[in-house]
Amino acid sequence: MAAAVAPMPDLKLLDTAPEAYWKRLREEQFLLPDWRAYMNNGSLGVAPRPVVSAVEAYLERGAGMVGSEYPRWGYELMESHRQEAAAFLGCSFENLALTHNATEAMSMVAQGLDLASGDEILMTDQEHTGGKGSWLLREARHGLRVRTVEVPLPPRDSGQLVDRLIGAIGPRTKVLSFSGILTTTGLVMPVREICRAARVKGVITVVDGAHMHGQIPFRIDELECDFLAGSPHKWLFAPPGCGLLYIRDEMLDRLWPLVTTEAWTNLGLKAARFMQVGTNSRAVLEGMGAGIRFAQAIGAGRVYGRIHELARRARGLAAGISELELLTPDDDRLYGGLVAFRMPKALFEAFAKKAAAEKMWVYGSPLMRIATHVHTRPQDVDRFFELIRGSRGA
Ligand SMILES: Cc1ncc(COP(=O)(O)O)c(C=O)c1O
Repeated sequence: MAAAVAPMPDLKLLDTAPEAYWKRLREEQFLLPDWRAYMNNGSLGVAPRPVVSAVEAYLERGAGMVGSEYPRWGYELMESHRQEAAAFLGCSFENLALTHNATEAMSMVAQGLDLASGDEILMTDQEHTGGKGSWLLREARHGLRVRTVEVPLPPRDSGQLVDRLIGAIGPRTKVLSFSGILTTTGLVMPVREICRAARVKGVITVVDGAHMHGQIPFRIDELECDFLAGSPHKWLFAPPGCGLLYIRDEMLDRLWPLVTTEAWTNLGLKAARFMQVGTNSRAVLEGMGAGIRFAQAIGAGRVYGRIHELARRARGLAAGISELELLTPDDDRLYGGLVAFRMPKALFEAFAKKAAAEKMWVYGSPLMRIATHVHTRPQDVDRFFELIRGSRGA
């Protein structure tokens, strides 16, 4: 596998023949078979060849090592891995803990904060089960009160979203927990404006950022949030089983670790205190680093540009089919690589059969969400909508 990794296509090609560049990237850097139209990065992303190769190479090397030669994450501080991730995400590595996914990171926050019966947790009505499950558990177990705010789909503008969430804060609200990009429709929330306004009201902000890094460019230290959970295995090319938790300085000593080994009492470890969880596969972290380098080799801005260009194409095609109720707003700032719409049930059922026959991999029910990434080909997007059009009256 390592031998099979080809050099990245020359970026000069992107200026002269962009479609040829993306075609080569897909063909040479991904293991996706040619017949596969994969448009579900929103659930799980696709690891490119250099990532698969880095995981495999580490497993091979590790199998020949003994004892202390073999670093296991779960007891180590993994500083170089955290530094690489932190540099990409825009924060200090001391505020970044490596986890297995966003669900775990969200649970670490919800279970680790000192909150009492009657304290209120505010969230949107569009949260993913992995982001809200632990708050609901604390509601059942400790009497916290979870209250949801309806997100208008599509919203009028980002100001309406800030007003909705901040306006809902009440005297008992202690935490505002919301997704930076909604799982249901891909709506990009105005995270900084929300976190800034919540801070003024003394409310802790927890951002479920599972969809953010790799899909849209941002720096964590500009978001002004207290916590941010991530899943780089969705949009950042990491292998499955990679997660992140950003913890703001003021919160490092306030959060209780959920899983512990000896070093959990050592406050000097900062965010690494939350990584003392016992033996884990270091190989996936090697893959995560390779994923970050893969994104950097293309350029985070170029990756976003391509993702969004294809998503805009998808949005335009969806808008041209009168039966579809488009949930993605027109404003480019409010979506990245996810486009969503509702379909009449009969149309969805006819379409789903056709898509399955072509092994097209999308996410949806009558609420359909299409994800575009650098491995998505324009013809995949076009074919998707061709199948919907061909399912009318079927
Ligand atoms: C907003 C959001 N949060 C959390 C998750 C859970 O991600 P993971 O399974 O990587 O923990 C998802 C998965 O789709 C999601 O969309």
